[in-house]
Amino acid sequence: MKLKILRSHTRHLRVRDIERIMLGSEPFRTYGFDKKSCRKIINNNRKNEILIAKLKNDIVGFAIYETTFLNGYYLKLIAIDPSQRSIGIGNKLMTALENEILKKKKKVLYLCVTDFNRRAQKFYKKRGYKKVGRLTNYAKKGIDEFLMRKVFKT
Ligand SMILES: CC(C)(COP(=O)(O)OP(=O)(O)OC[C@H]1O[C@@H](n2cnc3c(N)ncnc32)[C@H](O)[C@@H]1OP(=O)(O)O)[C@@H](O)C(=O)NCCC(=O)NCCS
Repeated sequence: MKLKILRSHTRHLRVRDIERIMLGSEPFRTYGFDKKSCRKIINNNRKNEILIAKLKNDIVGFAIYETTFLNGYYLKLIAIDPSQRSIGIGNKLMTALENEILKKKKKVLYLCVTDFNRRAQKFYKKRGYKKVGRLTNYAKKGIDEFLMRKVFKT
């Protein structure tokens, strides 16, 4: 698989790629993501770092993160094109992000995962993330988010 992970900024992400990757799949559907929300991702994250997964010339996934959150970093959003899931791209993006963090002083990564998103919870658990909190009714009434954390050993 000719996959490249590129370090970039959200302004290099095209709205149509975000739409293809996010619209119509969970947990984004339940949260009511639409074309407007996809455009907002670019506008609201101009200052944030991003890792882009490129397969040949196609953007097939991305991870947006913040470098200041509690005592570490925060993964705001990771998403892989539904047609390219379960072939290792999510893991490659996470490894690239974790390798960056390992070079920094603060070696902790936080993220949130929706209570019904069992697949993502399993994905993070396998990578060593632990649930450290529960944000009840966080973005939508009746749906909670788990706060997860990985502390990297040096
Ligand atoms: C969660 C998500 C980011 C994972 O990305 P992914 O690319 O599908 O993940 P990977 O392929 O790296 O790993 C997932 C599974 O595929 C398996 N896998 C990895 N490489 C593989 C390969 N070469 N061949 C077959 N299977 C493989 C992994 O073992 C893993 O197995 P698991 O389901 O038992 O955990 C992705 O499913 C996604 O975008 N989901 C929707 C958005 C979302 O939930 N984001 C997280 C919100 S917090």
